[in-house]
Amino acid sequence: MKAIKYNWRKISRPLKPDFFMGSLEYVIAVPEDLELILEFIIEEYHPRQELNRAIGLTVDLAIPGYRRILNQILKQPYSIIGFQDNVLVAASMCTIKEYPRNPERYKPYIWEIKSDYGEEIKEYHDDKNFLLSFYFNQLESDIDQIVPDCKRLLNGEMVCVKSDISNMGISTEIMELSLKWAIYNDCDYTMGTSTSKTALRVSEKNGCTAVKEFPPYKFIVNGKKVFNCGPNDEACGVLSIKKLQFDHAKLRCKI
Ligand SMILES: CC(C)(COP(=O)(O)OP(=O)(O)OC[C@H]1O[C@@H](n2cnc3c(N)ncnc32)[C@H](O)[C@@H]1OP(=O)(O)O)[C@@H](O)C(=O)NCCC(=O)NCCS
Repeated sequence: MKAIKYNWRKISRPLKPDFFMGSLEYVIAVPEDLELILEFIIEEYHPRQELNRAIGLTVDLAIPGYRRILNQILKQPYSIIGFQDNVLVAASMCTIKEYPRNPERYKPYIWEIKSDYGEEIKEYHDDKNFLLSFYFNQLESDIDQIVPDCKRLLNGEMVCVKSDISNMGISTEIMELSLKWAIYNDCDYTMGTSTSKTALRVSEKNGCTAVKEFPPYKFIVNGKKVFNCGPNDEACGVLSIKKLQFDHAKLRCKI
């Protein structure tokens, strides 16, 4: 990783609450962190994210999308980044979305995986960025119908932990902080999509429940599999949610 070009400690950030503690030094991410987080994503997230691998998305093709998404995400103060010895080693990138009540939400929810998406995708069938966003859209759409009582939801957009400290509970810890941060910010639900069995395990460890599954090997366009993977591979596509609760008695977050 290249040297950090700015002093992340000196950047003005929202005050962090008392519970921002753990095995790393955690802070709330702000727009000034964009280049550092982008570099981290390019090196640590992009090559290990299972669906990027399964579709063969090159980093050059992906960078403009990452930059655009990070720009959007960092407009809100809900992402947490973790440092170890002054190096960025973990990121939980999140946004919050309001869901005003509307009667449509109470209709029974039916969603089925189609045998072929060729008709819907038409001329974009070779565009890997488009195929990925279409796939995520299938998984993540209709959340207000899936949880009709949801008013304010924390969306876990991206989570990544540096590979040399993986399987040490860091992702579980940063996700737990994100859930507490969501409660602190009046969210009643959280949602996130797991693209690997490891990420799914982390989400289960944080008490999330799978509500929708689109196994990547079942994404077929014009008779061809979009993702080069099978049912027993590490890649997966699962949308999970969790209802959040605030413990008023202790004025503490309970997750
Ligand atoms: C996914 C990721 C965030 C996990 O971070 P981490 O810090 O290693 O996660 P944790 O140590 O908190 O937990 C990992 C859990 O998964 C389990 N695990 C590891 N490999 C697994 C596998 N192949 N299948 C199922 N579970 C697995 C571990 O045993 C551990 O569970 P346990 O505590 O019950 O033993 C990290 O691997 C990463 O950054 N990957 C690249 C980017 C990515 O794919 N992000 C997720 C996109 S949805």
